[in-house]
Amino acid sequence: MPLSDRNSPPSESSSAPSDESLIRNVSDTARLVAIDRAVESERPDALFRDPFARRLAGERGARIAKSKPLGGRTSGLGWPIVTRTYVIDRMIQAHIEYHGDAVINLAAGLDTRAYRMDLPASLQWIEVDLPEILAHKEEVLRGEKPVCSLERIRLDLSEVPARRELFARLGRQSRKALVITEGLVGYLTCDEVALLAQDLAAQPSFRSWILDMVSPKLLATLQKRMTSNFKQTAPFKFAPEQGPAFFARFGWTVVEANSLLRVAARLNRLPFYLVPISWLPDSHGTQPQRPWGGVCLFSRTI
Ligand SMILES: C[S@@+](CC[C@H](N)C(=O)[O-])C[C@H]1O[C@@H](n2cnc3c(N)ncnc32)[C@H](O)[C@@H]1O
Repeated sequence: MPLSDRNSPPSESSSAPSDESLIRNVSDTARLVAIDRAVESERPDALFRDPFARRLAGERGARIAKSKPLGGRTSGLGWPIVTRTYVIDRMIQAHIEYHGDAVINLAAGLDTRAYRMDLPASLQWIEVDLPEILAHKEEVLRGEKPVCSLERIRLDLSEVPARRELFARLGRQSRKALVITEGLVGYLTCDEVALLAQDLAAQPSFRSWILDMVSPKLLATLQKRMTSNFKQTAPFKFAPEQGPAFFARFGWTVVEANSLLRVAARLNRLPFYLVPISWLPDSHGTQPQRPWGGVCLFSRTI
């Protein structure tokens, strides 16, 4: 999991960097998506409310969003992030209803579900991310109370022995855990994702896994649209030809593959010029030559 500029200094203040140096490393993408959650939260008809998102994104997050790192007409990443958040919120609620006792949010970034969702106090919520972004998050959320039991772990998930040790401990301390890797696998190579899938499958109590992914066609489109700053600091890589079925040989069966475009259309969050595309039959990510981005829920095969 090579991360460009993983250890660059965390200075928030800066003398108005040019767009080309706004995104310093992959953790800055957490600020970018926090802005999308802030914008949604401020709508009168918000699909979710994250009262911390704007503060967490900070001034740097706002400037990154404004620079349109993926091109397009609006700032930030917009409707795909809003829709992804909404879909994953629903999946977490279902996990709780089915008596899940733990949620393991890998690459949690500036996500605040442990504060903003209606969760049982007994739920174990574990957040893992790189040290710099978690230090910033703790600073901003100091004095706020999570609704459930929250543990935050500063770890580089590319350190395989350390993450296996962590997964083994979390595996022992949970009975029915849901793993989330929201906005992570896109930055990894196929081999890195395969190894992660195996490491997660090695823990019998890790029952389900939520991740978002794109088809090769959408990956190519996004790569073309990315600013050079985004491309250099946080390049997109993962888009397997097989789609969600990629995970089957590592012990994970697809339960749901939700097209973000279709869900966004249903939620009235899709820009008008994309609505006709949402009327086409859903490929469920199985056709590499069709643009598709989705949130998938997997359950362990054994
Ligand atoms: C697009 S953000 C998503 C954050 C969060 N899941 C969300 O949706 O708001 C990507 C996150 O992956 C984290 N990340 C990337 N590589 C990582 C690694 N090797 N170890 C831990 N975290 C990593 C970054 O720090 C960043 O917070």
